Amino acid sequence: MIPESIVIEKERKLRDWFTEDCDPTPKIIDGLDIGWGGTQRWATANMPVSPAGPHLDFCCGYGTFLAQLGWRFPDKELFGLNIDYTGPHRMIRSLLAEAGVKASLVQADARNMPFAGGVFSSVSCFLGLQDIRIGFGDSGICEALREASRVLREEGVLVLLDEIPFEEFDAFLQGMSLRVMKRCERALDVRWDRVAAEKAITLYARGYVKQKRTIDEEERVRIYDEVYTRMKSEMERQLRDSGYYVPFNSVRMVTCKKTVRA
Ligand SMILES: C[S@@+](CC[C@H](N)C(=O)[O-])C[C@H]1O[C@@H](n2cnc3c(N)ncnc32)[C@H](O)[C@@H]1O
Repeated sequence: MIPESIVIEKERKLRDWFTEDCDPTPKIIDGLDIGWGGTQRWATANMPVSPAGPHLDFCCGYGTFLAQLGWRFPDKELFGLNIDYTGPHRMIRSLLAEAGVKASLVQADARNMPFAGGVFSSVSCFLGLQDIRIGFGDSGICEALREASRVLREEGVLVLLDEIPFEEFDAFLQGMSLRVMKRCERALDVRWDRVAAEKAITLYARGYVKQKRTIDEEERVRIYDEVYTRMKSEMERQLRDSGYYVPFNSVRMVTCKKTVRA
């Protein structure tokens, strides 16, 4: 296993590159994407990924988790799948090149993956389920998990990482040929002051509206106001109670194995 200090150094270098043109506050906020407050490092250190067979990371966004996977499992053949590679996701190729990680990128909806059944020995999803939920509802999550299970070979491992409570993971996985092996969670090692927190919630509320994929302007404004108000109230609570702001809940990891059909 690659030493932790090497992964930390790779993260630091990638974060410096990723935020090199940012002013101080955006540097803090955008810098979170690389490593996600230590949780990506924790996740890849705890993933039971076998050396043989290809790995798929779906909802790979601009590839920050793929970079971690490449550092942790340098001999693994990696595939990334995302619904688009436009806007901020366009930078995935340069990010992976900077990280020194090779991955084949596929543009597709996770609810309909363009792969034959049983081709991957492992599959992961880092903070993708919550975005599928925003855009496509709970049924979208179920469809994506069914697809993840279909493309996984028998006895293959599916690793889901999200802010979703464990009970909700269980509900989504019900009836699928997947047996939960392990559940664990990790808080983000992040403490932001008010300046970073206020800027961050504005950006996150805008990001939420984008994931909603609605084109009606009035609806977009309504969603923004609702999400921003909710985030602001949580931010004020944290600043009052602890003196700092942690922008996201703990990352919960659910590791499943695809079971052999009876
Ligand atoms: C918060 S990002 C996940 C972070 C990413 N895993 C990383 O390592 O940087 C969620 C991603 O899910 C993608 N997404 C949302 N719905 C999707 C779907 N139905 N199929 C595939 N990708 C989807 C979004 O485009 C976005 O890039």
